[in-house]
Amino acid sequence: MTTPIYYVNAKLHIGGAYTTIVGDTLARYHRACGRKVFYLTGSDEHGQKIANVAAAQGKTPKELADGIVPYFHELWQQLDISHDLFIRTTDGYHERVVQSFFQKLKENGHVSKGHYKSLYCTGCEKPLGRSELDEEGRCPIHRTKPDEIEEENWFLEVEPFKAKLRDYLAATPARLLPDGPRAKVLNDLEGFERQSVSRRKENLSWGVSMPGDPDHVIWVWFDALINYISGLLKEEVEGKWASTPDPIPWDELIACDKFRTFWPAAVHLIGKDILWHHTLIWWTMLLGVGLEPPRLVYAHGWWTVENHKISKSLGTAVDPTPVSKKFGNDALRFFLLREMTFGKDGDFSIGQLVNRINSDLGKGGLGNLVQRTLNLVEKYCQDGVPAAQADVLQPADGELARSTEELAESYCQHIEGYRFHLALEDLWKVVRLASQYIDDQAPWKLAKDESQLPRLQCVLWHLCEVCRVLGEALEPVLPDASAALRLKLGQTDAVRAGTTLPHRLRWGLLKGGTKVEKGEQLFPSVASPLDVEGKLDGETLHVTLGGFLDSSTAAQLEEFLQKAGKGKLVTGLDHKGRPVEESLPVKPTAAVIDLGGLAYCSAPGVKAFAACKKAFGKNVEYRNAPENFAELQEKAAAG
Ligand code: MSP
Repeated sequence: MTTPIYYVNAKLHIGGAYTTIVGDTLARYHRACGRKVFYLTGSDEHGQKIANVAAAQGKTPKELADGIVPYFHELWQQLDISHDLFIRTTDGYHERVVQSFFQKLKENGHVSKGHYKSLYCTGCEKPLGRSELDEEGRCPIHRTKPDEIEEENWFLEVEPFKAKLRDYLAATPARLLPDGPRAKVLNDLEGFERQSVSRRKENLSWGVSMPGDPDHVIWVWFDALINYISGLLKEEVEGKWASTPDPIPWDELIACDKFRTFWPAAVHLIGKDILWHHTLIWWTMLLGVGLEPPRLVYAHGWWTVENHKISKSLGTAVDPTPVSKKFGNDALRFFLLREMTFGKDGDFSIGQLVNRINSDLGKGGLGNLVQRTLNLVEKYCQDGVPAAQADVLQPADGELARSTEELAESYCQHIEGYRFHLALEDLWKVVRLASQYIDDQAPWKLAKDESQLPRLQCVLWHLCEVCRVLGEALEPVLPDASAALRLKLGQTDAVRAGTTLPHRLRWGLLKGGTKVEKGEQLFPSVASPLDVEGKLDGETLHVTLGGFLDSSTAAQLEEFLQKAGKGKLVTGLDHKGRPVEESLPVKPTAAVIDLGGLAYCSAPGVKAFAACKKAFGKNVEYRNAPENFAELQEKAAAG
């Protein structure tokens, strides 16, 4: 299974992190089921877009890429991504596979030279027809005018494969999901005869050299898509073929075990904007060398932030690193998988993330169930998990067991069907049923009557068993919390050795006498991003922002000020000192509060100070300014 390989022009926002977390969840799930998995991600480093950004920064494209790739590695580590390989398209083995692939297409007679004239959007790295442009003649995604390119190019023939492509689009089981965009892809296929797959070196030299034609480099998408295959051939190229001159003979190259095991790929996870490349272009390339396309291309929707399109220039790009550090990686993973219907668009907001943590993971959900259960076990069963005696079983126990088993099974079906939000919804039905079971069985009442001890033990065993099943089921989604939960219940690696997930989800595996350890709450409550500290102290209002000021936080702040009976939220400032309404900040932010002649700024910095001045006129002074503030201001003024 694969993610798109990410461009190295900038850091990733929540969208790229999302695809990689989805892939990671699937990879962990299938590994837990005992299947062989190869999970591939990486970086896309060639092409016009990268060349332009590098030039603008005064760097070579390779320097640009080398600068950002360590950041990708750090991010994947922070998000607990368990990929098997991170591929770079500037890696030697990848470039050699691209050349070998191209050579094979040439031998098969599916590429030829011709005259190219087209509009081309560098942001998309894609040719655009005039009918695809907006009213002002711009790319509808990037809002920039496309370039006009006219040069001699190599072309890939699409015509001979049209019937086959139509078959793939209509195939059952589907090779492209969701169903929605299929009609558009079919429509794109009409009149699509050939695709340019090279650039002349004098116009763009940043790419893989064309075998046998030194005047050309290979088109960035042709190069990038091949990563899905070259990722499987790294050891082969660097070993057996290390000293063979290029191009390596294709058929022999792909005769290796790893390729045969993992191709066709189970799924390419992508965002909906790169569907055309992953179907018409990639499938045609594969058919041209005689290979079967991936079993599935799944295009997910787009994240918006506070219902606005993610845009770096508007400041609405959420950086996954601080969110994960502040709220926890598991919480972020859970939120992304629970909140979005895979295949549709979804909205990201810190307020909603905090709600999910508190209501589903922490004190209102899973964490609470586990803590209640282990509190009871510690209190009433000093020897660890009690045994459940059959003669005290009641119908409610059987119902809990049956529902847990059924819901755990449908959880698995939903994960395998890419319905992550439904999968989690089902597990949380288990959480609610078990919480209800505690209330109904009232173990604290049973504990008052000694003759009820077997019944009390039976109830507590059932609760521990539910928690065990949840701890197993959640491993792919919440790697850290589920490991902690399993350890609380004595489910060590030794206990679980040699078993697979379907087995571990069966009801009844928890042995009486297993030692438990209550330990820390799984998900301590998260204060709303707005922590209002202290009260009105004379003329000073102490307000500490937890780090983010989105619109729901602003609403809470206003509510607080109303209760305090003093002060009015004038504006929220983002990290650059821009008012909240303009920038919809999701980065550390200051709030400016008017206390009637006295303005209070929650997190003053140079820019926030400047913005206060702007909002309140000249009479703004900075009390308790840092010593080097004047120097900071000078630096800021100098850009
Ligand atoms: N380099 C190409 C992919 C080549 S794969 C052979 C590329 N890179 S990208 O860095 O621009 O985008 C990576 C992914 O992020 C794409 O799948 C894209 O759909 C996804 N997203 C970009 N914005 C997004 C959102 N706002 N929400 C969710 N995903 C989004 O394209």
